[in-house]
Amino acid sequence: MSNLLWLPGHELILDDIVRADNCRLYDSKGKSYVDLEAGVWCTCIGQGNGSVRKALADQFALIGHTGFNYTSGIVGEVADEVLTLLDLDGGKCVFLCSGSEAVEYGVRVVQSISDRPLLMTMADSYCGAYGSANLKTPDEWFTFDWTPCATCSQEGECDRRCEHWSTIPETLIGGFLLEPGSSSGLVRFPPRKLIRSIAALVKRNDGFTLINEVTTGVGQTGSWFGFQHYDLKPDVVALGKGIGNGYPVSVTGLSARVIERLGDRPVKYAQSHQNDPLGAVVVRAVIRFIEENDLIARSRELSKILLTGLAQIASRHPRIGEIRARGLMVGIELVDNPDNAFTIKIHRDLIEQGYIVGRRPDRFLLRLDPALTIDQRDIEDFLVTFERVLAES
Ligand SMILES: Cc1ncc(COP(=O)(O)O)c(C=O)c1O
Repeated sequence: MSNLLWLPGHELILDDIVRADNCRLYDSKGKSYVDLEAGVWCTCIGQGNGSVRKALADQFALIGHTGFNYTSGIVGEVADEVLTLLDLDGGKCVFLCSGSEAVEYGVRVVQSISDRPLLMTMADSYCGAYGSANLKTPDEWFTFDWTPCATCSQEGECDRRCEHWSTIPETLIGGFLLEPGSSSGLVRFPPRKLIRSIAALVKRNDGFTLINEVTTGVGQTGSWFGFQHYDLKPDVVALGKGIGNGYPVSVTGLSARVIERLGDRPVKYAQSHQNDPLGAVVVRAVIRFIEENDLIARSRELSKILLTGLAQIASRHPRIGEIRARGLMVGIELVDNPDNAFTIKIHRDLIEQGYIVGRRPDRFLLRLDPALTIDQRDIEDFLVTFERVLAES
């Protein structure tokens, strides 16, 4: 694999995976691994899902890709389904290829219609690999470190009585980009009161709320979308990762209010696979599969089993620090020395034992984000193995 440029900071441990089935990966010798991170949090209804495979094959046989001057009715039909799911009826969708692209598209839209110069976002949010949302330069962004807010016990709304809130240049904020979980892979969930106060500020400024649902969307937090935990009514929603179940499609949903403000000045953005039928039918297959199999409710049940088990293990193992979770999105903070050796060992041993979990390279953090379709038995077996690996380390 010396001819591959690998992701900086991430270690290539397995280079011989030849096939996958739901949450199981197999190497060429037949050894299997349970993928508890769904790839890069993407295969939310399992690898090789039959409905997605059929949708792809059937659509590709008809027409996969369209042009600048023609499309297929199927794309509009799927857009309607997405908008209904997002409660953005009357709005519009654009189908793109990656989460970064969906967020960046939303950012450009809001920047183009906002009357105020800055968008606000959280300092620990990751919003994509390129563009304005990646760079977060101070001429376009105000970034807010919500760490002190996590332990705040002040009654009432956040406002200028709070010294930390007072750092927000309120009058300059024309939009708020919220990543409702994950926090660059740290699995942190900003407090409800803070988020609702920022949303209220944006509303007072006649601004726009964009939600980055790339990791939290499609059931990963025990609701369809992460913003639902905050009772928000977003103007723009960016979906990626799970919405394609491993196929590279993403969607930006825009509300009727945004579309009205855009008027006859849509953002100039064009790429070759924008609104392709192939991506659209995958999106539809994923949504329908989750609905038909009641996977959001199932994920909440599985989350209870996983979190109860982890809490029991934590009560017996002092080297488990904090466990943060919403639904099946889980972060396990380990107690480690600065060299990170314990976390690296646990991570490696779990892989050796056939369980792939996430690890943030620079932190003492293990991360789980399994597919909504994972077998309950795989979760139970993982808990047993995790405890054994901890005990032996
Ligand atoms: C919260 C969040 N937003 C956006 C992205 C970008 O998505 P993609 O890698 O598909 O471009 C990621 C990727 O990990 C992410 O975690």
